[in-house]
Amino acid sequence: MAEADIKKGLAGVVVDYTAVSKVNPETNSLLYRGYPVQELAATQPFEAVAYLLWHGELPTDEQLAELRAEERRHRALADNVRAAIDLLPLDAHPMDEVRTAVSVIGASDNSGSGSVLDAAGSPEENLERSIRLYAALPSIVAYGQRRRRGQEIVEPRDDLDYSANFLWMTFGEEADEVVVDAFNRSMILYAEHSFNASTFTARVITSTLSDLYSAVVGAIGALKGPLHGGANEAVLHIMSEIGSADNVVPWLDQALAEKRKIMGFGHRVYKRGDSRVPTMKAALDTLIEHYDRPDVAELYAKLESEFVSRKGIYPNLDYPSGPAYNLIGFDTLTFTPLFIASRVTGWTAHIMEQTASNALIRPLSAYNGADERHIEGYVPDAAEL
Ligand code: CMC
Repeated sequence: MAEADIKKGLAGVVVDYTAVSKVNPETNSLLYRGYPVQELAATQPFEAVAYLLWHGELPTDEQLAELRAEERRHRALADNVRAAIDLLPLDAHPMDEVRTAVSVIGASDNSGSGSVLDAAGSPEENLERSIRLYAALPSIVAYGQRRRRGQEIVEPRDDLDYSANFLWMTFGEEADEVVVDAFNRSMILYAEHSFNASTFTARVITSTLSDLYSAVVGAIGALKGPLHGGANEAVLHIMSEIGSADNVVPWLDQALAEKRKIMGFGHRVYKRGDSRVPTMKAALDTLIEHYDRPDVAELYAKLESEFVSRKGIYPNLDYPSGPAYNLIGFDTLTFTPLFIASRVTGWTAHIMEQTASNALIRPLSAYNGADERHIEGYVPDAAEL
């Protein structure tokens, strides 16, 4: 049998065009619809970036006000979504909780005809569904954290923008401006990253003409893994294991001897550093100062310098975002759901793009299993021959 030219993990394979974002590892840049992500994070509210990803242009003041009004209308969770979350065990992983809640929202959406033939939805229906999920996700994440902590549920506030309301619903108090700003930046940085594993999953599901909710549920499953979104949670687990900067060297000696992966480092596309890290690190620094936690800065810097000097592998976005979410007060298990709340904007932009120029995604495989063989004594029917 001739050797097949397998691109394991689809590494280096260009699958399709996209106009949503451009990742350029050569110049270490990431553009959303042409805008450098750093510029967006420094100047825009997350709502404007969501609009940009969906529509291709930043909103006018009026368009932003309309999106904000619609987002506010869809914040509150329907009773059946709350009931479905409440049925889950308290120790269910929040990623499973969010995946279930999104599934319930999808099953309860009676727009469209209900036939599989219409599942893919019109562009208008899909935009509406995208906004609905984007608006509901902070409520789902906040509900989950408060439920696990045994705290009363906090209803959304109409007078607060997306990020401030997200923090309000999670913590039941208004967050300081510096915290809202750091959180807003993280939401923008996580929003989109071309054909990463979860986005590609969403596109594969969409390519069968399935519905947007199914594509988002599948994407959540892909995001959960620690090689992808789960890394922001995993970063905190390793930081807790290490404890303090003094322990970095012995901990790293042992981890590398055991051939462990160091979470929050490395990237399939960027090999000389993740373009989003400096912006998120600057946001983390503002939080370190705000909460007066120099110990976090020391551990962060020591692990980074030791690991980079030994392996030449650089931090990715999950490395600064993990400790940032920890300082803000999110439970460690809630970090990857925060990534969902942001990335749902990118996923849905890709779902709409895939729908607009669809081709079923169905690659080939090279077979390397047993040679053809037969069941002993089996005599085929004449009709089968
Ligand atoms: N710790 C230790 N070794 C590593 C790491 C790491 N974080 N990343 C890569 N390597 C080593 C790896 O062991 C391999 O070594 P060898 O060639 O000796 O076997 C080599 O570098 C190549 O790694 P790979 O895993 O084959 O390469 P990849 O392009 O598939 O890796 C990656 C990308 C993200 C899966 C990997 O860097 C990794 O597992 N990182 C840790 C998990 C993580 O932080 N994921 C978040 C990714 S970025 C944001 C996101 O998607 O959420």
